[in-house]
Amino acid sequence: MDGSTTEHIPVLAEVLAEQIKLPKDAVVVDATIGQGGHSLLFGKRLGPKGAIIGLDVDINAIRRAQSVLEGLLCRVILVNSNFSEIAQVVRGQGMEKVDFILADLGFCSAQLEDDRMGLSFQKNMPLDMRLDKRLTTTAADIINRADEKTLADLIYKFGEERASRRIARFIVERRHREPITTTGQLAAIISNAMGKGGWSRIHPATRTFQALRIAVNNELENLETLLGSVPALLRQNGFIAVISFHSLEDRIVKMDFKSNEKNGVYKIITKKPISASRDEVSENHRARSAKLRIAQKV
Ligand SMILES: C[S@@+](CC[C@H](N)C(=O)[O-])C[C@H]1O[C@@H](n2cnc3c(N)ncnc32)[C@H](O)[C@@H]1O
Repeated sequence: MDGSTTEHIPVLAEVLAEQIKLPKDAVVVDATIGQGGHSLLFGKRLGPKGAIIGLDVDINAIRRAQSVLEGLLCRVILVNSNFSEIAQVVRGQGMEKVDFILADLGFCSAQLEDDRMGLSFQKNMPLDMRLDKRLTTTAADIINRADEKTLADLIYKFGEERASRRIARFIVERRHREPITTTGQLAAIISNAMGKGGWSRIHPATRTFQALRIAVNNELENLETLLGSVPALLRQNGFIAVISFHSLEDRIVKMDFKSNEKNGVYKIITKKPISASRDEVSENHRARSAKLRIAQKV
């Protein structure tokens, strides 16, 4: 991300700005600071008594956000942490309650382009996928070591890929001949496994790559831990907003908000998830699958 020129446009920024009104001394936790796009937007409305606490697992995102947010009036505290540790991070700053928690899940366009991340099937790069380089298992480790059934189950469960068994078989056959170490190799194996009929609107490797990324980064469990920490951290009338990019994440957010509403903890602001307008999608392709859900602490 550092040194990259890929611009990250914050998704659903206008809708968020419209829906979330904060006092000037608010404390905002941006659980996924990324390139600081959303934080800049909210930070501009805060005064010197306000604060932004930004988290990211990617150290380069933290460095980049630091320079983007320079010059804001409010305090800016950036921490290279997983959002599953949000409670410890906030308490570590001597704070008990916050006004707004935002999580814009997944990865930035700059990370997709970054060879060190190894996320893209459009470009050939080392098969890594760890957003947090402190993690020890890469996508290549899983692809070369997991047995065929484990691979197939993982691709089915986290990628909702119907051809998971066939893809797993092709992967295992290939790795007997040579280790699979690049995204290009893996994308070609998947395309082969899917054959011509596999080409729908999306690239045949899309779902398998999603599954691997979720597994490598423990994404669903981390999201559940984050959501579990939010009620105790939010001040009364404070907001939680989550932008998700695939149905597995969105389902987790939806269920969490519903159960908290049932228990009298939240009021759901978005009865249905908000998607990006056609204009936004035409300007920012990444926004096409974004779904925003907002709830307010009662
Ligand atoms: C879509 S980007 C956020 C973009 C940001 N909202 C902006 O406007 O620039 C998602 C960011 O979340 C980070 N991330 C993903 N999973 C995380 C986790 N469990 N904890 C902390 N950060 C995470 C990624 O490294 C990435 O920088």
